[in-house]
Amino acid sequence: MPLLDRKILFFGGKGGVGKTTCASATAVEASRRGRRVLLVSTDPAHSTSDIFEQPLGPKEREIEPGLFGLEIDATFEARRYVDQVKQQIAELFSPAILKEASKQIEMAATMPGVEEVALFERMSELIVDRDDQYDLVVFDTAPTGHTLRLLQMPEMMTAWVRALSKTRRAMLTEDPGPDPVLTALEARRERLQIVRARLMQARVAAFVLVLIPERLPIEETARALDTLASSDVHVAGLIVNRVLPDQLDGAFLGARRRQEQVYLDEIERRFARLPRLRLAQRESDVHGIGQLEAIGREVSRLA
Ligand SMILES: Nc1ncnc2c1ncn2[C@@H]1O[C@H](COP(=O)(O)OP(=O)(O)OP(=O)(O)O)[C@@H](O)[C@H]1O
Ligand SMILES: [Mg+2]
Repeated sequence: MPLLDRKILFFGGKGGVGKTTCASATAVEASRRGRRVLLVSTDPAHSTSDIFEQPLGPKEREIEPGLFGLEIDATFEARRYVDQVKQQIAELFSPAILKEASKQIEMAATMPGVEEVALFERMSELIVDRDDQYDLVVFDTAPTGHTLRLLQMPEMMTAWVRALSKTRRAMLTEDPGPDPVLTALEARRERLQIVRARLMQARVAAFVLVLIPERLPIEETARALDTLASSDVHVAGLIVNRVLPDQLDGAFLGARRRQEQVYLDEIERRFARLPRLRLAQRESDVHGIGQLEAIGREVSRLA
């Protein structure tokens, strides 16, 4: 299935292998083909602003006609998330209980993991609610581990919400009618299931793993593939980036190329069942729409 026919693409891989470059190039190519595209950076160390040479931030911004960019700010989202929870609670409890509850929520807000939850909430919103606004949403992710954890979160949270609902139900003695807390929890669980279902549909969502022909990125890719397989997220293929071009000579490059060939062979062997695409090492680093266009045309052939 052609890469650009999907609605949601994630670009993952080890640090510095070319995730942002490939994600941005793909977004440019899709918008050139007339699709309405949103490029989302979830990496706290954002670099989509740098590559497009224009400021992007927590609100969607048009980079060029049909192409929008967004850099999720996890701290900002965590604040918004906590305020939202407080507001929901305000509607449920008396002022006395509310004061105590607010204190506890503020305390919980500083716990590790809250930013991750908030980031995932924001991603869910983009995955589920923006369906009619964009033809394609491209996620430029942080180095692998983090993103894969985000993908497993719907399952984790579903289990968590279920356990909470059970405790809550046990606490209710007589039939008090509909319980607002349970209703809210149920709504959250249903929403997570929608996200999960979307991410598991191969025609809708897929992951592209970027690597370079070196030892550590190969191992990281193998691990990422295991994790993705266990969370039933489809892998569209691998992009093997920064492959030395043929027309170079010199003793140093000769040695380097022999080393590279060992790893290229290993990639062919170990990842034979997946579509693969090679991108050449370029003379200079990549920025600006012109260069992204050229790379985007190549990347779109991954199928
Ligand atoms: N094929 C290539 N030829 C030359 N330079 C490249 C190529 N691909 C990527 N680069 C350069 O390598 C650097 C890292 O690329 P990029 O930022 O896309 O990687 P990343 O995986 O997003 O990194 P991070 O994990 O830090 O987010 C950038 O300076 C980019 O311009
Ligand atoms: Mg990056």
